[in-house]
Amino acid sequence: MTIIVTGGAGFIGSNFVYHMLAVHPDHKIVCLDKLTYAGNLSTLEKAVKNPRFRFVKADICDRRAVFELFEEEKPDIVVNFAAESHVDRSIDDPSVFLQTNIIGTATLMDACREYGVSRFHQVSTDEVYGDLPLDRPDLFFTESTPLHTSSPYSSSKASADLLALAYHRTYGLPVTISRCSNNYGPYHFPEKLIPLMIVNALNDKPLPVYGDGKNVRDWLYVEDHCKAIDLIIHRGRAGEVYNVGGHNEMANIDIVKLICKILGKPESLITFVGDRKGHDRRYAIDPSKIHSELGWLPETKFSDGIVKTVEWYLENRKWWETIISGEYRDYYKKMYGDR
Ligand code: NAD
Ligand code: DAU
Repeated sequence: MTIIVTGGAGFIGSNFVYHMLAVHPDHKIVCLDKLTYAGNLSTLEKAVKNPRFRFVKADICDRRAVFELFEEEKPDIVVNFAAESHVDRSIDDPSVFLQTNIIGTATLMDACREYGVSRFHQVSTDEVYGDLPLDRPDLFFTESTPLHTSSPYSSSKASADLLALAYHRTYGLPVTISRCSNNYGPYHFPEKLIPLMIVNALNDKPLPVYGDGKNVRDWLYVEDHCKAIDLIIHRGRAGEVYNVGGHNEMANIDIVKLICKILGKPESLITFVGDRKGHDRRYAIDPSKIHSELGWLPETKFSDGIVKTVEWYLENRKWWETIISGEYRDYYKKMYGDR
């Protein structure tokens, strides 16, 4: 079986590549990635040595390149992780989000139709549901919660979800969609909350918490997300949406304090900065559908996963030091300079 994994040089995609190579000795994995600022070939350095792995540098919006790859590989399954994924960047400039997240997804699905794949899986996000109030802990996102997006990023992801469901209904394309909560773990790009705080704390730099720090996210260890997608592409029903999350809600400020504690750094590094525009208050997933239909449950407790993650950043300094010494410096100055 051949699986095309788009965006496999990014955070979750690379973890998925390693998971699939380890767990399915009969699968060939072909990674298609544009290598934007968020994609890093060094992340896949161990996969590249595997004869069942192939890397192709291409843009999912490039119709010719995508169709050529499908012609060569005749994939059975396509899993689309490729996306612009950072909310703050989408607020700064939405255009590339619309291009990659919407047009790119449609281009991939056109190729899937042409080459008759048995499954197109769209990796989506809980952000398509908007947010929940902090004072209603009884409320959760289910698969039937209406789409109600806040940022250009989440709007572009919701657009792609709607297109995927339309391709299923109109053309009979065997599509599945997963909507996962916030992931954390190895290879997480240091523009996102957890790796940014680890990296800044290690460098004794201020830890910039947006607004009052009380916004809540529902954190899931990345390996658990990869296992959920593996189950969905093999056993999930076409045309269905599956929410993925581990009932692990935490306020941002508590995460940052925990990282300080694990690293033995003072909380005085914490600096409250201007809030994100349109900042979603709380995300919380109800994962009962994927549990009852496919038997999925998260395996890594947050207290273990966060320690493993901090250890990974301590052991893989070269990976993130290379990133933060490049164009990231300009990004950081622009985003945090006068915040
Ligand atoms: P990431 O930003 O770390 O990686 C994105 C990858 O896509 C990079 O390797 C990049 O080079 C590649 N890419 C970007 N544009 C491309 C294009 N036009 N053509 C080909 N490749 C391109 O993202 P991530 O955090 O790993 O997220 C992966 C997917 O999972 C995204 O679709 C995101 O919306 C979704 N998601 C992320 C989270 C999370 O917590 N990170 C949670 C739920 C869903
Ligand atoms: O919920 C799934 C989503 O999780 C994914 O779809 C996105 O691709 C992914 O980036 C993530 O989105 P968030 O906006 O929740 O993640 P981020 O790490 O950017 O921010 C998490 C919270 O931390 C959020 O409330 C904003 C806050 N934050 C973030 C940064 C980068 C800070 O307080 N300070 C920061 O410097």
